[in-house]
Amino acid sequence: MDVIITTEQENPGRIAADAIARLVHRNPEAVLGLATGSSPLSIYADLADRVAAGTLSLARVRGFMLDEYVGLPADHPQRYRNVIDRDLVACTDLDPTLVHGPDGLAEDIPAACAAYEDAIDDAGGVDLQILGIGVDGHIGFNEPGSSLGSRTRIKTLTRQTRQDNARFFDGDVDAVPQHCLTQGIATIMAARRIVLVATGQAKAEAVHHLVEGSISAMWPATVLQMHPAVTVILDSASASRL
Ligand code: GLP
Repeated sequence: MDVIITTEQENPGRIAADAIARLVHRNPEAVLGLATGSSPLSIYADLADRVAAGTLSLARVRGFMLDEYVGLPADHPQRYRNVIDRDLVACTDLDPTLVHGPDGLAEDIPAACAAYEDAIDDAGGVDLQILGIGVDGHIGFNEPGSSLGSRTRIKTLTRQTRQDNARFFDGDVDAVPQHCLTQGIATIMAARRIVLVATGQAKAEAVHHLVEGSISAMWPATVLQMHPAVTVILDSASASRL
């Protein structure tokens, strides 16, 4: 695991975007694993700047999202598919038909989860997975206690995560769905490269476990210690317990 602690002058998103740009220059049809939440926003903004400047094209890149809320209406602004469309697809030349996410409105959820795993396999697997981390150490929506061998499935969100995400639902924790579909921990671990960005003091404990803790399903991100190609990009606040 490479751990990069950035200075005030450095932008964690730029460092992650550098790795993505290098990959896409090598392979214009690369498969990116896409995360939501606030952590990847600086990456997406940097990618958008490069596309606008003409130094990068994502037109043939394929994308697979990490997770999705269950039951949010198709036009809900916080449905993760809509968030990715707004924060990344609309700001770059990504082809929306090449971006996929778990179907949180599927009637047959186990079948939809299995189909999603198949779609990732059919694309040849994820070349580079972008990750954030929850304050409880979750990756994707794999909450503490998630099986380290899990694949895409339905999960119940913890109260903590629903409270953390209430800020996207006008502060109303009851408006945050109780369930989600998420790539499993084994799905995430199958990515050939992983770039995790964490910023802010609230992430310091999770980052401490991620980098220095014992591998445990109670801190799901610790499994990344077993992955051969992980880069963790931190600011000084999130790194303050290392
Ligand atoms: C969310 C997402 C995760 C994200 C995490 C942290 O619930 N499902 O993919 O990494 O929580 O979010 P943020 O980056 O906004 O702190």
